[in-house]
Amino acid sequence: MSDVLLLNGPNLGILGRREPEIYGTDTVRDIERAVGEEVAGRGWRVVARQHDCEGELIRTIQDSYDTVGAIINPGALMIAGWSLRDALANYPRPWMEVHLSNVWARESFRHESVLAPLASGVIVGLGALGYRLAARALVATVP
Ligand code: DQA
Repeated sequence: MSDVLLLNGPNLGILGRREPEIYGTDTVRDIERAVGEEVAGRGWRVVARQHDCEGELIRTIQDSYDTVGAIINPGALMIAGWSLRDALANYPRPWMEVHLSNVWARESFRHESVLAPLASGVIVGLGALGYRLAARALVATVP
């Protein structure tokens, strides 16, 4: 069975309890389930990881080269996560960057992503639905 990597970065482990007016009430487990539903038809399984540290995210990516693709919410590491960027540059499969909130409508320091130029697609501002849509995009585009 093929695996899809679902990777959530810093402060996303407390989704559901974290500023719900911005990030919604779904937990990472809810999101993991939703992504699992979307990819099940392709016979893919979700491998979900959440790390607060950049190094752990990098190690997970390096250990996931045999996955079919990835959905990644890097949290604030989008802004200056240069080491994460370098890890993603060597990830050999398509990946989607997801942000629950519309970062462009928020503080100006959130308007930069050093990762987005490497992503196959970027989804922002659609809450937990964004992860489902990213999963559908992988299902539709991965050969
Ligand atoms: C986020 C947006 C980031 O700016 C923020 O630092 C997060 C969550 C989102 O999903 O909307 O941690 O990535």
